[in-house]
Amino acid sequence: MKEAPSCKLEDKNKSCCGSSVVSDHSTELKSHWDKAYQKSPENQLGWFENDFSPSFRLLDQCKLNSYDTLLLVGSGTSRFPDELLKRGLGEIWVTDISEVAIQEVKNRLGEKLKYRVGDILQPETLLNIPQVQLWFDRAVLHFFTEKKDQETYFKAVKEKVKPGGYVVFAEFNLKGADKCSGLPVFRYEEKMFQERLGKDFKLLDAFDYTYSMPSGEERPYSYALYQRKVN
Ligand SMILES: C[S@@+](CC[C@H](N)C(=O)[O-])C[C@H]1O[C@@H](n2cnc3c(N)ncnc32)[C@H](O)[C@@H]1O
Repeated sequence: MKEAPSCKLEDKNKSCCGSSVVSDHSTELKSHWDKAYQKSPENQLGWFENDFSPSFRLLDQCKLNSYDTLLLVGSGTSRFPDELLKRGLGEIWVTDISEVAIQEVKNRLGEKLKYRVGDILQPETLLNIPQVQLWFDRAVLHFFTEKKDQETYFKAVKEKVKPGGYVVFAEFNLKGADKCSGLPVFRYEEKMFQERLGKDFKLLDAFDYTYSMPSGEERPYSYALYQRKVN
């Protein structure tokens, strides 16, 4: 049998995908992100932030304890986990498709965090990570431009977040750019998150926030916080 051709990142919207190709796509994505982290110093990355106030506006509304499990999806080299540790928050898992990014965080924070390298859309990436009290995603979900990938992502959210647990999204909003790190994005407003989460998740807060990149360019984001209902 002929092997399926591998998808180029920009071909992702063409329907050529069998499962072996999906993992080829993960490999290409990994290489894209590894290069992005190798190419630029941390504080020159187009998503670098040292003001976490929009995220903490939402986190401060969550009842989180030092023993809770938190999952930072596609957290790259972000200093957000450092801030969570300063606040005494507990078992923090950082995950990313880029091994380079995760290694950099490991060098910085070592045993203080738990680490997982992998594509968040692949089930093995989340394997043996317990259900969490917080699923936190800044600028990752918006890379999933295909419906089937969005469905896989939201299925993972619903499986991983404990009843009573929280979900934070911070993604490019409808006025935002159509690319991030050279890749096409799917933009969101609050009600689109809610539609995909379904009725088991309750909106607690949402707002737009304009992030300034190190270059000075502006990127409008949609932030939203949900809580999974306790049945
Ligand atoms: C724009 S950066 C944002 C990084 C971080 N969340 C922050 O706010 O600084 C997107 C991140 O998502 C990661 N990423 C992209 N696609 C991914 C995937 N399919 N699975 C896991 N991580 C992914 C990238 O490696 C990168 O670190």
